Amino acid sequence: MALLSDFWKHTFLVMFLFGFVVLFVTYAFVLQLDANEIKHGIQKNGVPNIDNNRERIVPAFKTILYWNDFFGIKNFTFGFGHQPFNDAQCPTSSCEITNDRSQFNRSQVVIFSIQNMNLTDLPSHRFPHQRFVFFEMESPVNTDPLPMLDERTRFGFFNWTMTYRLDSDIVNRDSYGFIVPRRLTLASMYPIPHSGDMTFVERKHPLSSKTSSKKKLAAWFVSNCVTSSQREDYVEELRQYVPVDIYGKCGNMACTDRTQCREMIRTDYKFYIGFENSLCDDYVTEKLTTALLFDAVPIVMGGVDYTRFAPPHSFIDVNDFGSPKQLANYLLLLNESNSLYERYFDWKQNFDVHLNTKQGWCHLCKLAHDDELSSKMYEDILEWWVNDPQNCNLNVGDTPIQRTH
Ligand SMILES: *[C@@H]1O[C@H](CO)[C@@H](O)[C@H](O)[C@H]1NC(C)=O
Ligand SMILES: *[C@@H]1O[C@H](CO)[C@@H](O)[C@H](O)[C@H]1NC(C)=O
Ligand SMILES: *[C@@H]1O[C@H](CO)[C@@H](O)[C@H](O)[C@H]1NC(C)=O
Ligand SMILES: *[C@@H]1O[C@H](CO)[C@@H](O)[C@H](O)[C@H]1NC(C)=O
Ligand SMILES: *[C@@H]1O[C@H](CO)[C@@H](O)[C@H](O)[C@H]1NC(C)=O
Repeated sequence: MALLSDFWKHTFLVMFLFGFVVLFVTYAFVLQLDANEIKHGIQKNGVPNIDNNRERIVPAFKTILYWNDFFGIKNFTFGFGHQPFNDAQCPTSSCEITNDRSQFNRSQVVIFSIQNMNLTDLPSHRFPHQRFVFFEMESPVNTDPLPMLDERTRFGFFNWTMTYRLDSDIVNRDSYGFIVPRRLTLASMYPIPHSGDMTFVERKHPLSSKTSSKKKLAAWFVSNCVTSSQREDYVEELRQYVPVDIYGKCGNMACTDRTQCREMIRTDYKFYIGFENSLCDDYVTEKLTTALLFDAVPIVMGGVDYTRFAPPHSFIDVNDFGSPKQLANYLLLLNESNSLYERYFDWKQNFDVHLNTKQGWCHLCKLAHDDELSSKMYEDILEWWVNDPQNCNLNVGDTPIQRTH
């Protein structure tokens, strides 16, 4: 660039300024159009503007309807009305969320928790502009396939998906968490929220951590004793070589409440076993984030590439070891060497762990406002959801899943 002649420098400068002026004029023009619409109390979709008494320019409110509940939780753990979008500090927050079905006709988005769907209670009609959303947080292994086997809901029913999977239209990982490089905000990672940018910056100052004072090796918190990932067999074998304290229904250790358990992880344990119950695409839950938040090194097992979800050198993946015995030897090595062990916390200087941030709901509100989005529907939602039956150890009852391609 230093070689540019003065002529080109000036030409660039002029072009740059010109571009700026054009942008500004366009922006002012668009603003003016919006202002006119709002003055007349009418929005593009013909719904009266609820805020038309104010002078301030407010964007149109979009209505989002929970059609059913989410395991008995009517507010889907998000809430009702407009306030949750404000509370979440959504960049686009002018949405209203309700479970009042009399609002169906004026709802832009209708959310269905697939696990809780009642097939004799589907909407009697729908409008072309409405988006029906497939909502799920469990893995395909733990998703009741019945609602997806019904042809009315299976074929061409859903327009969008809202799940933990990174290829969903709305990625919702709020209760599972996101780890984000500190120089980025979580919101800035949408709408492409893959955590691919896990660039690591070497530490400049050693952390003054208390991790080296931990006395115990590994803890496992577990309530589901037999799983499709067969994690229990792995732990069983690992325990032949190193001590693993098992808390919960499947073990003999107990701690009183959530806060106390987490504090104990922080002060006592070097490693936290975060094996997922199923080995499915992108299915990484709060097991990873809990360990990272509470200063234990997660030992992970899942059907995912963990480098997409966690910073480098922040976790130990069982897939990198030939056997539980080899993993045990590595854990013993780290147990003997504080400097090797503490390297597993270097990432803390460059990343933040986000839990319960509601960014998925913010993104949903943003998409509800995007009039430029083309229409979309899932021809076969079952095929989309059960995209990877082999990896996922999936066996949907006796019904073989027909894949069209
Ligand atoms: C959602 O409802 C539950 C009760 O089912 C309540 O405990 C919780 O506070 C509500 N959450 C929000 C965000 O409103
Ligand atoms: C909603 O739309 C349907 C179909 O156009 C119509 O039959 C129904 O009366 C409308 N309901 C309300 C509450 O406006
Ligand atoms: C499903 O919906 C129908 C019709 O609204 C209702 O009669 C039935 O009780 C519902 N079933 C369940 C399990 O909620
Ligand atoms: C881990 O290291 C500590 C301190 O050196 C030692 O007391 C403990 O026995 C080691 N644990 C195992 C399982 O070897
Ligand atoms: C939603 O899906 C329905 C059914 O396939 C379709 O008719 C409609 O055009 C879709 N709407 C949008 C906005 O994508």
